[in-house]
Amino acid sequence: MPVVLGIESSCDETAVALVATDRRIIAQRIASQDEAHRPYGGVVPEIAARAHAERIAPMIAEVMNEAEMELGDLAAIAATAGPGLIGGVMVGLVSAKALSMASDVPLIAVNHLEGHALSPRLVDEDLAFPYLLLLVSGGHCQILRCEGVGQFKRLATTIDDAVGEAFDKTAKILGLGFPGGPAVEKLAREGDPTAVPLPRPLVNSGEPHFSFAGLKSAVLRAHESGLHSTADIAASFQQAAIDCLTDRLERAIESGGNAPSLVVAGGVAANASVRAALEELSQKHSMRFVAPPPKLCTDNAAMIAWAGCERLGQNDPLDYKARPRWPL
Ligand code: KG4
Ligand code: ZN
Repeated sequence: MPVVLGIESSCDETAVALVATDRRIIAQRIASQDEAHRPYGGVVPEIAARAHAERIAPMIAEVMNEAEMELGDLAAIAATAGPGLIGGVMVGLVSAKALSMASDVPLIAVNHLEGHALSPRLVDEDLAFPYLLLLVSGGHCQILRCEGVGQFKRLATTIDDAVGEAFDKTAKILGLGFPGGPAVEKLAREGDPTAVPLPRPLVNSGEPHFSFAGLKSAVLRAHESGLHSTADIAASFQQAAIDCLTDRLERAIESGGNAPSLVVAGGVAANASVRAALEELSQKHSMRFVAPPPKLCTDNAAMIAWAGCERLGQNDPLDYKARPRWPL
């Protein structure tokens, strides 16, 4: 069975994985940099790039040893080539190029967003194209109709912040630290989602897009008013964000985006309340719901290796450029 090495270094996770075309994750390592960035309350690009450079080679050696494989046994080496923080992307991509040059194994340059978008197919062999995808991460908030590998029709995007960014900023306002999404989810469990009146920007509007900047400002005002507990604000914020996601998805479904399956991917898809709301929406529209397990929703290398499996046969040149911006 062909096996692909995947390398991910576009943000603050250094990750490597070996995935076979029959969907087996043979070995994987993920090194989080949370501790290094925590004092700054967000990801510092220079610190991220240096940490990737320190860790990536030993991690690749570890997965190859664990699988008892040589470079020459690989069908391809797939690395995130963008979008992301350019210093980090370059560390992963250059590592992949060096391994490819040394072993003559083909290089596959992967779009990180395509990695997220295809990740549900790694865990669900019955998930066929087309499917409707909600891609929700720290940098992106999009609805895509996935019609094939490399064939994505973008139906909606955010006009300001991504939803993950709104979770992170809410966490910062409430003093919950970094990373924000999981902390907001945890505190929200103790709060009342109806306690704080918060706006749902663009809900019921005729245009397809998302907006979260107004919600974030309202969270700040609610916090500064001193009238509400942080748990109530967290729960009310999470509910408002979910209402925005489901309303915009419903609009996409009703205006030509329909497909047999509704799929969610990206870091925010790790949130249990988000998943539950989307599952309910799928049932209402008789769509099958597919969500990767939380560990495959946040950044990882198995999804990059899997995108490589989907693109097997491709052989990218050794001068392939890292791309800080690379829309699907
Ligand atoms: O996909 P990802 O790991 O990295 C990017 O490509 O951006 O997504 C990270 C984003 C962050 O904004 C983080 O706060 C959010 O996903 N996130 C969550 C949860 N876990 C991660 N948001 C809400 N609830 C969670 N449990
Ligand atoms: Zn991501």
